[in-house]
Amino acid sequence: MKSVSLLISPRAKNAYFNDYIDVAKAELAGLIGQQVDQHRTVAAMDFFDIEIDDAQLPLLASLSFVYGIFERHENKLIPMPVDVSYGLHEDFVFGAKFKGKTNELLTQMLINVGLQNISYKSIADVKLLDPMCGRATTLLWGMRYGMKTKGIEQDVKALGDIRQNVKKWCKVHRQKHQFSEGLIGGKTSKKKKAKFVEFTANNASMRVIEGDSTDARNLLEGQKFDLMVSDLPYGVQHFTSNKTRNPLAVLEACASDWSESLRPDGVMVLSFNSYIPKRRELIGVFEDFGLQALDFSAPHRMSESIVRDVVVFRKIK
Ligand SMILES: C[S@@+](CC[C@H](N)C(=O)[O-])C[C@H]1O[C@@H](n2cnc3c(N)ncnc32)[C@H](O)[C@@H]1O
Repeated sequence: MKSVSLLISPRAKNAYFNDYIDVAKAELAGLIGQQVDQHRTVAAMDFFDIEIDDAQLPLLASLSFVYGIFERHENKLIPMPVDVSYGLHEDFVFGAKFKGKTNELLTQMLINVGLQNISYKSIADVKLLDPMCGRATTLLWGMRYGMKTKGIEQDVKALGDIRQNVKKWCKVHRQKHQFSEGLIGGKTSKKKKAKFVEFTANNASMRVIEGDSTDARNLLEGQKFDLMVSDLPYGVQHFTSNKTRNPLAVLEACASDWSESLRPDGVMVLSFNSYIPKRRELIGVFEDFGLQALDFSAPHRMSESIVRDVVVFRKIK
């Protein structure tokens, strides 16, 4: 065991606003299996002081809010060289700025909370789906972790933007990769075809399919995933496919296909504006399709009209 202090990243304030300490506590508790009640502030720096097994240090370093890990020794803080060996440069996730982008730290937190709740031998075996993936922030994070990822997005401009972004960073960072485009079902299928783009690098991959997530089962050709992670439309900025401000109706139409796309014991992590829909309404939608809500929440106020929260579901066998 080691006595360590975790320095909370200044980026966490941009991601979680005034609630950054509570959100960080929730993410940390999911990893170490216990609540850390106290935090310490020194000048502008916030720390959590914990005791931890050496084996868990790399996992601590990939918590979304962690900026540095220090060993506590006779009242001194000694920086520890704990590094996460991500498979892609951070620019692939953080580089592009666009309207409607999900905060990069929040996205990492959603993935971490999902991983904390599934069992897997190697991260390369984990298949991740973002069924409302926008311009692929979740999928690119998944690739940095080494996963195989897929996404569905209704916005017809998204594939072009993703292509441009990925190609730019591959060029800037001389990243070896394959990039391809095609139609679901290939040329022989008689079903309605959907466009996709696919990006592969360092044995990780992402495929983004253009289409309506209410048709997820067809678009995904029946594939099952270990993890689903999505930042749902907020109703204020991001409209759903039927142009309603309340995403509940579209989620009701998606729920059966989303549940079908998750393997038994798989986990789905969603962030949403808890004003619309309410947490209990959202849980109600998915509970009807064999998804059980787990005991996790991380509410944080983003504005007068948005308190973002996180809900985690497990697919019952
Ligand atoms: C909050 S945004 C996700 C942003 C994304 N995480 C990113 O950083 O690019 C929600 C996305 O859901 C998409 N969406 C809404 N309804 C959909 C549907 N029925 N099928 C597919 N995508 C949908 C919207 O177009 C929007 O891009």
